[in-house]
Amino acid sequence: MSHKKVAILVSGGGSNMVSLVASMTGDHPARPCLVLSNDAEAGGLKKAAAAGIAIAAVDHRPFDGDRAAFEAELVKPILEAGADIVCLAGFMRVLTAGFVSQFEGRMLNIHPSLLPKYKGLHTHARALEAGDVAHGCTVHEVTPRLDDGPILGQARVPVLENDTPDALAARVLVQEHLLYPAVLRRFAAGDKTPVQLG
Ligand code: GAR
Repeated sequence: MSHKKVAILVSGGGSNMVSLVASMTGDHPARPCLVLSNDAEAGGLKKAAAAGIAIAAVDHRPFDGDRAAFEAELVKPILEAGADIVCLAGFMRVLTAGFVSQFEGRMLNIHPSLLPKYKGLHTHARALEAGDVAHGCTVHEVTPRLDDGPILGQARVPVLENDTPDALAARVLVQEHLLYPAVLRRFAAGDKTPVQLG
């Protein structure tokens, strides 16, 4: 069997990346080919290197807001690695339509809310402020609109009395680590049926 190659993009600690990498063994239809960051100091890069995965970094800062120029560099290691699937896993740069269109139908993102609720940042605080009784995370196909695109899976968690954004985020993150690997396994096998957890 020839495996699908997966490039994973991270900006921070990369705990979702670690759970994705750990899942891609045995009869899984995919294997990691690259972990890429916009920050050479991202903790996720060290973890990926320790796991023996090729890493690369393209710092967005010298591009001074020129997203297209940044992306022209960002795409190079992905193409060189021959990625079939791109997974955004805590990648905190907005991507332009030009970049996204190069990976149409084969780029996934995990977002810490039950989309379409709470696109963008501070999702946990916003769920608490709204008085929601349930919160969670979503894996979706990436389209040019931010935190949009066909939903491939969701996991729900209860909002508890006296919850804080940090406590809620931690409860959601546990589910992220289950949801993203479950969706990737299905997606890499050509199945886009949504995964529902919780
Ligand atoms: C995760 O909670 C992920 O859902 C979120 O960033 C965190 C990254 O953690 N992503 C976004 O907010 C995307 N807009 P990790 O680096 O430990 O995987």
